[in-house]
Amino acid sequence: MASSSQGEIVRLPDAPGIVEPEPFAGPDHPMRKLTRGVAFDGSWNAERATKVAAVFDGLAEEWSARVDPTKLAPVGDALERGDCPLDGRWLELGSGTGAGTLELSKKVSEVVALDLSAEMLANAPAHLAPRLRGDASRLPFGDDSFDAVMMLNMLLFPAEIDRVLRPHGVVVWVNSLGDQTPIHLPVTDVVSALPGAWTARTANAGSGFWTTLRRA
Ligand SMILES: C[S@@+](CC[C@H](N)C(=O)[O-])C[C@H]1O[C@@H](n2cnc3c(N)ncnc32)[C@H](O)[C@@H]1O
Repeated sequence: MASSSQGEIVRLPDAPGIVEPEPFAGPDHPMRKLTRGVAFDGSWNAERATKVAAVFDGLAEEWSARVDPTKLAPVGDALERGDCPLDGRWLELGSGTGAGTLELSKKVSEVVALDLSAEMLANAPAHLAPRLRGDASRLPFGDDSFDAVMMLNMLLFPAEIDRVLRPHGVVVWVNSLGDQTPIHLPVTDVVSALPGAWTARTANAGSGFWTTLRRA
């Protein structure tokens, strides 16, 4: 168990069958730099949004082939051991082609999926959840709209998450390739980036890790 200046971080034992990710995206990867900039410096604007949407539009058709059960294992484990409000209203940000939405739909009663890329959304199954095209830096929802907000390999927009999450709500942060995920922040950074004080629990599962965070 560790303690940050803002709250406690509880590290649970690894899930059975964890896999060390192959080297893929180190600290100098451009997406890693963008991830830090967005989380800590608010370095996101319309030009960046257009560029990122175009990148993922171009990857959309073959994206689902990249996803496998080992990469998705952290989502299922988070829902099992993360003390999540399974009967609440969930928002998945950066839902892509729906791999995380599928895992959520097995356990969670209500999910809304949002992504910037029209092509990623078009390649996601329609029946799992309502799919919205939008920018997580300016969410089309009122304050206190959700019991949980999940990001699977998605940029962290701290202020908007804080705004739409209900007071008792849970943030679920998943990196499916651990620190080799291009869009990666360690637990301590997620805790620091979110406004106010948070307590976290975290564990390794599959080839990645999950973290769930509640306001302290
Ligand atoms: C690395 S992909 C992950 C997709 C999916 N969660 C998965 O793990 O298979 C990142 C996704 O976040 C979306 N995204 C990036 N910036 C976004 C933003 N500002 N608002 C909403 N979605 C965004 C991209 O379009 C892309 O679909």
